[in-house]
Amino acid sequence: MTFETDIKRYINNNPKSKKLHDLAKKVMPGGDTRNSIYWNPFPIYLSEGNGSKVKDVDNNVRVDLVNNMTTLILGHNNKNVRKAIINQTEKGTSFPAPTSPIIELAQILCERVKSVEKIRFVNSGTEATLNAIRASRAFTHKQKIVKCEGAYHGNHDAVQISVTPDLSLAGSKNTPKPVKAFEGIANSATEDILIIPFNNDEVAEKIITENAEEIAAVIVEPINGQCGMIPAKKSFLEKLRYITKKHNIVLIFDEVISFRISSGGAQEYFDIYPDITCFGKIIGGGMPVGAFGGNKKIMNLWDPSKSKKYVQHAGTFNGNPITAIAGLTTLKSLKKDTYEKLNKKGDYLRNKLSDLFLEMEAPLTTTGVGSLFAIQCTADQVIDYRSYSKNDQVLLNKIFISLLNSGFLISNRCSGSVSVSNSYEEIDSFVLSLKKILSNLGY
Ligand SMILES: Cc1ncc(COP(=O)(O)O)c(C=O)c1O
Repeated sequence: MTFETDIKRYINNNPKSKKLHDLAKKVMPGGDTRNSIYWNPFPIYLSEGNGSKVKDVDNNVRVDLVNNMTTLILGHNNKNVRKAIINQTEKGTSFPAPTSPIIELAQILCERVKSVEKIRFVNSGTEATLNAIRASRAFTHKQKIVKCEGAYHGNHDAVQISVTPDLSLAGSKNTPKPVKAFEGIANSATEDILIIPFNNDEVAEKIITENAEEIAAVIVEPINGQCGMIPAKKSFLEKLRYITKKHNIVLIFDEVISFRISSGGAQEYFDIYPDITCFGKIIGGGMPVGAFGGNKKIMNLWDPSKSKKYVQHAGTFNGNPITAIAGLTTLKSLKKDTYEKLNKKGDYLRNKLSDLFLEMEAPLTTTGVGSLFAIQCTADQVIDYRSYSKNDQVLLNKIFISLLNSGFLISNRCSGSVSVSNSYEEIDSFVLSLKKILSNLGY
């Protein structure tokens, strides 16, 4: 079967999604409000989610192995979370004064995450990294930030640089140049940033040391999501911790994704602790969320009672009780052994994929850690953006569409995450479907 047949099958199987897409395009550019879930020829429009499965408007049911981009750690429509949300909505949805559920969510995060003494809430991971960077500048009285090539930290100017840069514009591996992710980003964003290669201790040390006087913060994901859930080498994070401490630079861990690998986050897993941590995704239990927290010295910058010079932080829906209660219910149900079981399931999935690629002699590999995984369409080991960019994007897209046809949803970059609801049987049939797909593609 050719890929053209698969595309035809996709169009035939999803006529209502196609119709909705045509309608949506008239009022929303691209037919939606989130570019990351757009794909050709059109995305599926989902109508229901339950446990490990999602249903689309054409009544196709698929096993969800992406879980709203790693957010839904318990799976869809968890009974306790749903009940908690309904209870809260009966009391009101948002108020012009603080409510108590957010205190409990703050408490649980401060208890579980060793480096977080105080925390503030926002409505997205984007706002979390924006505020963490602002805090670093206010705290150090310096301007520049350092980020890794190939890292995504949200949709604001300061970090929409060198996310998936065209390598012909991105300088050499040891002297990477900042490249705007798209037009519309302020020129000052490229002037205020330094780019380091992920997982390269020596180059990172050199660039940071040479510019230390100007650097306010180094922001890093302990597990790089954008390039396929690649864990950092411990030595890389150790180097960043050492060098930032030495030069009065704030170390920010973006744990928007990686917070799902243990109750204390990736920082607990690596046993390396930042000054500020950014959160999102799982901590809202499926509702819009973001948070940033760290040591008291930095976090007290936001305290309006302490100083006239506090850093402004507003937001009509910050800390709203519905998000708080959904997040709290989710986190409370995540015990230490829940993470262990979930991570084992992730190990099982990645091992099965590796075995399959070996057995079929296909030029594919898998990356990831804990419950996070990605399929890489390159035989080379992926450890940073430059090795990631060797992916065969055409093959990746074929696999993605064919998996949709076979009843599985992963991200359109072929990465994903398992939830508490996904079963071992689902993982087995996912791998079997992938085997058939690769065999149809000639492997
Ligand atoms: C590592 C990381 N940081 C920040 C963000 C931005 O979060 P949000 O989409 O909630 O703005 C994302 C989103 O995928 C992310 O993966």
